[in-house]
Amino acid sequence: MSTKLLICLFISALLNAGAFASPISTTATPEGFDSETAIFINETLTKISNTCVTTRDREEMTGNILKNRMAWLLTDTFLFREVSEIIGKSELRSALGFSPTVPWTRREEPSDEELEAAPTIEAYYNLREPFRFFLTLEHTFLLDTYFNTAAAFLDKRVPGIRLVYRKYFEEKLGSLHGKINRAGVDFMIKQFTVINQSVYLAIVHLNHLAACYKLGIEENPCTDRDRDNF
Ligand SMILES: *[C@@H]1O[C@H](CO)[C@@H](O)[C@H](O)[C@H]1NC(C)=O
Ligand SMILES: *[C@@H]1O[C@H](CO)[C@@H](O)[C@H](O)[C@H]1NC(C)=O
Repeated sequence: MSTKLLICLFISALLNAGAFASPISTTATPEGFDSETAIFINETLTKISNTCVTTRDREEMTGNILKNRMAWLLTDTFLFREVSEIIGKSELRSALGFSPTVPWTRREEPSDEELEAAPTIEAYYNLREPFRFFLTLEHTFLLDTYFNTAAAFLDKRVPGIRLVYRKYFEEKLGSLHGKINRAGVDFMIKQFTVINQSVYLAIVHLNHLAACYKLGIEENPCTDRDRDNF
């Protein structure tokens, strides 16, 4: 067994033992599912939270525009969180049969009159789609620049993010029995906030695990297999 692997396992042990116990236990399965879907979502969230994402991976996420520390900074504090949420929203649009858009367009909270006047269900959804009020011009610039490479990376290396959203929405949509009216859209938006929360916790854990790589074992980082064997 190589020294690097030992260090890796040691750090994993520390992480598993104490510091991050609470994010792990809060990776809870949303309720009200048939057990097969619940188990799938549970396992996939666990897999997401235990994914190793190295410096090189993070550089790839930025389309190799940013190197090393800057790539860490942007992915840790921004890209993982925002891009996974946007992937979630595009899965929601797709589940509802709506066309894709650029979901980080800046906008205001819609007025009751605007909602009332929405000519179609999709137009109504567009007004109600969850978004972050604090998205500044800098944020939208970052997303314009890095979204495509970051989303492509996540689909390749952390495909569970999209899968969890898709599976969850499929299941919840089933309970609407094809009735996609305004109430149905409101219901699905509520489901988005629930599953977004679970994915967010898994991502927070993934970023904590990254400590493994910051301690000088970059060249031979823990693989998922190392972690599974542990
Ligand atoms: C989900 O995972 C946790 C451990 O991470 C486990 O305690 C729980 O029983 C699992 N639930 C299901 C439905 O598999
Ligand atoms: C998704 O969840 C995170 C964590 O709770 C939250 O900060 C964020 O606002 C949520 N996003 C949306 C669009 O609801």
